[in-house]
Amino acid sequence: MKALIEKLTNVFSPSGFEDAIRDVIRKEIKGFADEIRVDALGNLIAHKNPSAGAKGAKRVMVAAHMDEIGLMVTHVDENGFVRFSNVGGVFGRYAPSGRVRFTNGAAGVINNELLSNFRETPPLDKMFIDVGATSQKDCPVKLGDVAAFERPFLDLGKRVVAKSLDDRLGVAVLIETMRRLKSRSERVEGAAPNEVYFVFTAQEEVGTRGAGPAAYGIDPDVAIAVDVTPTGDTPMGRKMEVALGGGPAIKIKDQGMLADPRVVSWMAKTAERSKIPYQREVLIMGSTDARAIQVTRAGIAAGGISIPARYVHSPSEMVDMDDVENSVRLLAALLNSKVSL
Ligand code: ZN
Ligand code: CO
Repeated sequence: MKALIEKLTNVFSPSGFEDAIRDVIRKEIKGFADEIRVDALGNLIAHKNPSAGAKGAKRVMVAAHMDEIGLMVTHVDENGFVRFSNVGGVFGRYAPSGRVRFTNGAAGVINNELLSNFRETPPLDKMFIDVGATSQKDCPVKLGDVAAFERPFLDLGKRVVAKSLDDRLGVAVLIETMRRLKSRSERVEGAAPNEVYFVFTAQEEVGTRGAGPAAYGIDPDVAIAVDVTPTGDTPMGRKMEVALGGGPAIKIKDQGMLADPRVVSWMAKTAERSKIPYQREVLIMGSTDARAIQVTRAGIAAGGISIPARYVHSPSEMVDMDDVENSVRLLAALLNSKVSL
């Protein structure tokens, strides 16, 4: 799993520019789905058990977003300094001195104008990227080019640190689950072979724009978004119950949605039956693809599996490998179980 997470987080693919990460995922899931397609928005959709028509079988959509936060060039000045705008939730306090990599391969460092109060966090419009250019002419990037943060993967043993674990970790969990799902012949006796759509969504970080249209096309009976969630377990951190190492968190509420209570209880019961540790998540800030899926068509029963992560949207996000393993186990158990709605 660590090697897969490292591979996925090393790819630079901000929202709307998912080509690079989509190619990597497509290679990883080859042979583990019955059909793979890409829709108009760039969502990668892998279909498993297409003919599952057994009594009690459901059509389940599982989503993890493959895009990441990044930056877009708004202006290059006569000395080759690059001004930028955010793509998704880029926090000013994490940006200065950060390194960025453009999708065309160019790289640079972020710094900022001299501020009257050196303690204040500079706003993004007081920052610039120095790409090593000396003029607008020799600048390797132009208006509209995009970059993502660059930071090497760090293995701390039980815990790992990387950029874009939001949500390449969810992507890794989906890939690993696809590999472990029992084929029709090996399926647990009594459990319906659910028809499953694994969707690697586009443009989540700019407002969950990919997942809704994907769900509209699939028209699932139930949907699960797998994403990271912040924790409350750091010194003087936010008041939040979720902690690293406590197991996957079952979403009850976030800023954008109330998870379907039937989905919440299906998840909790399945975790308890499979002896998988889990936590309950009520998140004050942020939301996931489940929000967009829930209000598609005539409404879709939706919930979320949230993997605890520290320092979300910084270039050094941290997760616990036990939580990763237990998230895979929970997702696989859900997909192999009778969906009770
Ligand atoms: Zn996310
Ligand atoms: Co995010």
